[in-house]
Amino acid sequence: MNANQPSGFNVERLLQIFHQKFGSNDNTIQQFFAPGRVNLVGDHTDYTGGFAFPCGIDSGTLLLIRRTNNNQFRLASTNFDLSVQLSKDQISNDKKDNWINYPLGVVDQFVKRGFDINGIDCLFSGNVPNGAGLSSSASIEVVTAFAINHIFQCQLTLMDLVKMAQAAENDFVGMQCGILDQFAVAMAKDNHAMFLNCKTLEYRQVPLALNDYTIILANTNQRRELNESAYNERVAECERALQLLTPRLPIKALGELNEQDLASHKKAFANDNIAYKRAKHVVSENARVCAAVQALEHGRMDEFGQIMHASHDSLRDLYQVSSEPLDHLVNAARAQSGVAGSRLTGAGFGGCTVNLIAKNTSEQFIREVGQTYQEFTGLKADFYAISPSAGVRQVNP
Ligand code: GLA
Repeated sequence: MNANQPSGFNVERLLQIFHQKFGSNDNTIQQFFAPGRVNLVGDHTDYTGGFAFPCGIDSGTLLLIRRTNNNQFRLASTNFDLSVQLSKDQISNDKKDNWINYPLGVVDQFVKRGFDINGIDCLFSGNVPNGAGLSSSASIEVVTAFAINHIFQCQLTLMDLVKMAQAAENDFVGMQCGILDQFAVAMAKDNHAMFLNCKTLEYRQVPLALNDYTIILANTNQRRELNESAYNERVAECERALQLLTPRLPIKALGELNEQDLASHKKAFANDNIAYKRAKHVVSENARVCAAVQALEHGRMDEFGQIMHASHDSLRDLYQVSSEPLDHLVNAARAQSGVAGSRLTGAGFGGCTVNLIAKNTSEQFIREVGQTYQEFTGLKADFYAISPSAGVRQVNP
């Protein structure tokens, strides 16, 4: 196995399934992989043009893809029952809440831009838990965009593909997400996290020198409900906050706001306390990302952990995207010795927490946090140790 080969996939078996589903033709089956991502700090800032600090994880989506030249699109997955076969003029997002919208939305982006994508067979296989806030959907979108660009020689840049993947999610899936997930999944680098400016899309890879610490994700396994509508509602509330401020301040995005200006223009929010709370989260979260990157670069892990805690509290109290299970997981983690920091990661409303813990306490952490969590919620948490991994790529057969 070589370094760019993702782990945890039985490629032989996937090739068999591919042949069973799609038969054979003269074109070669090629393989591509995109990871999931975890955001270490900086949530609900991306769509305001703020900062985030994500890294790739070592699980993701493997795509086996082949050209067909018959103008048919056949998409199947080993994770979901629904598969489709359709022609270009049949592309539509009528299958609500279905995985198929992620790759189909990306195909739609290529078609809209006038690329002659004249047929593909695709088999997707993912090992990122779905609905866990680890960007399984962005990994499907980005791997699809990357693979199509490659096999049809569209000559688009990686940044173009990131934007197309985000557009697929905005326009086709209907989630008004920012660029964090697609960007991270595309640009991630082994053993690094990226300090990302979501407005300019400038980014800096920061070595994740964790020394005696490790990152463990804890999955609430809570069913996520209202996820998409509540998310879009937050986006709209930030827009409202911006509208209240622009007559008074020379800003074009909420992410440009600083803590001092927000405080001195608090009266703009006299009739909209919700918008104020959302803005306060965004402004403080942006400051936390900058401080967290500094702390990490100077090896100040305790400080990094404290920033994670403050971030969770702000997402819970000001942004109101936490949930009881998430809070239980975070509280149980904070009660453990050896835990530097614990916070929800991603959109919230369920999903995972990210935990920075002393390596030698990880077994105890998993045992005790798991037990306390189950006592409080009746739910069983899953735990994953992650190593920060590289972004989208072609995988050598
Ligand atoms: C989801 C969205 C991202 C980002 C995060 C929260 O993952 O897709 O764009 O807004 O939530 O930080």
